[in-house]
Amino acid sequence: MSPAVIEPQVVSNAAPDASTSAQVQQTHENPVYLTTEPDSSFDWKITLKNKVVAITGANRGIGLGIATVCLANDAAEVYSLDLFEPGEDFQKLATANPKRFRYLHCDVTSEESVTKAIDQIVAQSGRIDGMVANAGMTKHQPALNFDRPQLEQLFNLNVFGAYFCANAAAKKFIELGIKGSIVFTASMTSYRPNRAAPSAPYGGTKGAVRNMAHTLAMEWAKHGIRVNSISPGFVRTQMTYYVEKAPDWNLKMQYYGGMPRLADPRELGGAYVYLLSEGASYTTGIDIPVAGIVGAW
Ligand SMILES: NC(=O)c1ccc[n+]([C@@H]2O[C@H](COP(=O)([O-])OP(=O)(O)OC[C@H]3O[C@@H](n4cnc5c(N)ncnc54)[C@H](O)[C@@H]3O)[C@@H](O)[C@H]2O)c1
Repeated sequence: MSPAVIEPQVVSNAAPDASTSAQVQQTHENPVYLTTEPDSSFDWKITLKNKVVAITGANRGIGLGIATVCLANDAAEVYSLDLFEPGEDFQKLATANPKRFRYLHCDVTSEESVTKAIDQIVAQSGRIDGMVANAGMTKHQPALNFDRPQLEQLFNLNVFGAYFCANAAAKKFIELGIKGSIVFTASMTSYRPNRAAPSAPYGGTKGAVRNMAHTLAMEWAKHGIRVNSISPGFVRTQMTYYVEKAPDWNLKMQYYGGMPRLADPRELGGAYVYLLSEGASYTTGIDIPVAGIVGAW
């Protein structure tokens, strides 16, 4: 039997139409791929113009930093899908970007809650183009001391939550015929230990996320969906507020090498904007470490 032929098909990234399902249908004889290749009118500018992006956990920290940079790069609308009510930092960004930055209550550990939030985005904005699965947590303690509920809490949020977000977004992209982009927030601990604090299960969750991105990218390429991850190093948020306060901070920084500081969350944003934009039309299945080479591999 001859190998299956892949027939690229140029499909507009515009709103869905009834022909969409036919475009992604695959037969054994002749699989059809929804190509992400830009058409001849594409202006090659890296921009999120006209894009509607959902970011989980964007009420504060890294998510809020990503939202700031997405809005600065012309995203039409950014939704924060978060478990807790927004605080002052969220309000400040929302006020500076009227009707472009919104909060939806969502618990990413519940598939139902994620699906409901995505449906609400589409009902309000007519589309969704990007999903950043960013909400996550850590717990620093020696591996020998973890009990099962603590492990379940970490894996439920960091792995199951990220998986639900990616799946729900992919289903919606396919339903609407949108060539969407999914970006996971992984971590440098997906590559190597966090030498500042013991956190073996956390590293395990982030290794899972980075690996998942690669596999989902393979599975969903035929739908024109790109899946990537970003691995931050030390970023100044509630998660790391204690790091700079450690009495041996300066010594640690000398030992780690690289840039002797934590990042402002916004310093990660450009990488997310790139992966969410059509400028990254041939970029899928990769991880971008954004870590100032601190604690190099
Ligand atoms: N801060 C760092 O140095 C660092 C480094 C590498 C990776 N990360 C990763 O970046 C991501 C964001 O971290 P951060 O430092 O901004 O943390 P953060 O604690 O400041 O923010 C996390 C956000 O997620 C929200 N959240 C928590 N549980 C949720 C749930 N069930 N559903 C929806 N939202 C929920 C929180 O309300 C909060 O707004 C995490 O995945 C984290 O593992 C952080």
